[in-house]
Amino acid sequence: MLDRALARVNGWALDTVAPEWVDYVVSNTMTDFNRWFNGFLWTYDLKALVEQVMDEAPGVKTFVLRANQHWRGFQPGQHVEVFLPIGGDTVRRYYSLSGLPGDQKGRFSITVKQTEGGQASQWMHQHLRAGMSLKIGHPQGRFCHQGQAKVLFLCAGSGITPCHSMVSALLAQPESERPDIQVMAQFRQASDVIFWETLQQWAQDGLKVTTALSGLSADEVCLPGLAPRLDAAQLQKHCPDLLDRDIYLCGPTGFMTQMIEHLRGLNVDLARVHTERFVVAEPPSASPGAAFETAGAEVFFQHLNTRITLTEADQGKTLLQLGLDHGVLLESGCCQGMCGTCKLTVHEGQVSGNSLGNAVYLCTAYPASRQLVLDA
Ligand SMILES: Cc1cc2nc3c(=O)[nH]c(=O)nc-3n(C[C@H](O)[C@H](O)[C@H](O)COP(=O)(O)OP(=O)(O)OC[C@H]3O[C@@H](n4cnc5c(N)ncnc54)[C@H](O)[C@@H]3O)c2cc1C
Ligand code: FES
Repeated sequence: MLDRALARVNGWALDTVAPEWVDYVVSNTMTDFNRWFNGFLWTYDLKALVEQVMDEAPGVKTFVLRANQHWRGFQPGQHVEVFLPIGGDTVRRYYSLSGLPGDQKGRFSITVKQTEGGQASQWMHQHLRAGMSLKIGHPQGRFCHQGQAKVLFLCAGSGITPCHSMVSALLAQPESERPDIQVMAQFRQASDVIFWETLQQWAQDGLKVTTALSGLSADEVCLPGLAPRLDAAQLQKHCPDLLDRDIYLCGPTGFMTQMIEHLRGLNVDLARVHTERFVVAEPPSASPGAAFETAGAEVFFQHLNTRITLTEADQGKTLLQLGLDHGVLLESGCCQGMCGTCKLTVHEGQVSGNSLGNAVYLCTAYPASRQLVLDA
């Protein structure tokens, strides 16, 4: 009850007072009592208040959140780290952000699919209610539209969330500035489709939208815009100009690995496939870094125009550690191969460990060739 009343007051304060002024007042009245009484505003942390919880599909909920005065906006396709108070511990997970049309006041949403036996997603579905607030991290990640003129958003399951965010933002641009957008989204069956109405709306707005149902056989497909499980033939059939497009790929690990293989088989340049992974890759059975002789090998970080020559002392180190130890300013976040902050593209050479297509997660990958060229 008190939570809800405070949430209303906080929402009102953020609606009517500019965040800089809220920040000014709060930081000049930061007492223990204010912190205890209203920890959403009287804090130096970025926090988000839950304003609304919506059922999106069976086992999928959208949480509409409102950030406090420390919010500095986000780019469509980025994600936030969410700190959840579960059973006396703080459990940290990442969720992609969706903007709310026309809202400039720090409102955004995250869409969470319940994972079987999943600690965070189950807790959020069962306990996270309007009026509660959570600590969050600042938006991060580079899975964002990079200005290409022709794009395909290829996603499955909850992997549709960053694509939804990017496509919605692109559609809000004047028509003359919009890229040529195509969307292919795969789900198990019709009832699992996330953002069904939005997909229909996009199709009505003139986008080519294909909804694939992996539980459907080819003979059962009777409607235009519907496809069976995506494979190389379906990709080609529904997107004949695939080779001309940059592809934004997100979904379960198995789906992404299969799509990369199909795209490779269709001669798609993997440098044009941009990926976001939601689940950390399985750790390799043996430490792959240990087997590679590092002494004399070179790694060129093209985007920073920096070349490093490895020594014996670099044996077994991840690419992130190698870079940092040689004074290269590389970005990183979770250091567990999840958040994608350290992700670069392999231009030349080979890596072992955590990679997907041409994308390599430096924090959990190792050099595997004498010459390696990496780029942003
Ligand atoms: C950059 C990024 C963005 C993300 N965005 C979203 C999003 O928009 N919506 C969303 O629902 N999730 C998203 N995720 C996944 C999310 O962070 C959690 O991993 C997911 O909610 C499961 O957490 P959990 O605590 O419920 O499961 P856990 O308790 O961590 O895991 C339980 C079991 O499920 C497996 N598992 C974990 N995650 C998944 C998954 N995503 N799919 C299938 N199996 C899984 C684990 O290997 C484990 O066996 C994102 C992840 C990353 C890294
Ligand atoms: S994936 Fe998070 S830092 Fe590497």
